[in-house]
Amino acid sequence: MTKNSHPLPLIFIFLTLIGTSYAGGIAIYWGQNGNEGTLSEACATGKYSHVNIAFLNKFGNGQTPELNLAGHCDPPSGTCTKFSADIKDCQSKGIKVLLSIGGGVGSYSLSSVEDARSVSKFLWNTFLGGKSSSRPLGDAVLDGIDFDIELGSTQNYEHLARFLKNYGVYLGAAPQCPIPDKFLGTALNTGLFDFVWVQFYNNPPCAYANGNITNLVNSWKRWTTTVPAGKIFLGLPAATEAAGSGFIPANVLTSQILPVIKKSPKYGGVMLWSRFYDLQNGYSTSIIGSV
Ligand SMILES: *[C@@H]1O[C@H](CO)[C@@H](O)[C@H](O)[C@H]1NC(C)=O
Repeated sequence: MTKNSHPLPLIFIFLTLIGTSYAGGIAIYWGQNGNEGTLSEACATGKYSHVNIAFLNKFGNGQTPELNLAGHCDPPSGTCTKFSADIKDCQSKGIKVLLSIGGGVGSYSLSSVEDARSVSKFLWNTFLGGKSSSRPLGDAVLDGIDFDIELGSTQNYEHLARFLKNYGVYLGAAPQCPIPDKFLGTALNTGLFDFVWVQFYNNPPCAYANGNITNLVNSWKRWTTTVPAGKIFLGLPAATEAAGSGFIPANVLTSQILPVIKKSPKYGGVMLWSRFYDLQNGYSTSIIGSV
């Protein structure tokens, strides 16, 4: 390595010193409410850079995996294949579409390294670039897999990440803001994740609470300096009803928080839970000019 072969770190240091801020996108979760409109409608708003289809909430430990898209469609009877065209439509707009596995309700775990390998193969063949006679979202090829692991065993997710990354797909993760995340900490430490949308809600010690941004900003600094990941997103509820705590009024986010966190080269944007609440509340419309 010669002295001048890596100028980028110096550029980052220089830009940070002069107060540069980075531009980001909005990632949205879609799929858990039948009244949130179609995937195409979500993508047509022009507000989102990433869509996580939620959730594959049953997998691993020898179980037959199950996709759950609430009132949108019924995977076993094949009615979710209508979203294949929507997925391609979103991708044609440059939006990355991932399948989110896990979620707050479900039955999932990885019992061994072999189990992780078999789940990775299933995901590749069923939702990604592989082939299967049973593809609940049709022939659309998703861009990657998002890990929203919130229950069950904490084991073997680092192996699933490695097997999936070997297929060359994007990896996303939605850890809770306390570091390390109980379920995803080990997987995140592999450094294989492209997008980490940290849930800065339902966790007062590292989230916005009572008008105070200190805990959130301190936690953001820890995430962006200690966790190896491509880009870090500020994960937020799109409405007060969308989470138990942590909702940030749009004007507080745009005037006090985004100007601070956008100074990190790791900043990827804002993640919102969920399309349903964003549609009700218009949150993405209120913040997009500042993201
Ligand atoms: C905000 O929270 C921090 C950390 O808990 C605390 O030290 C500080 O006093 C709080 N600020 C206000 C104005 O309450």
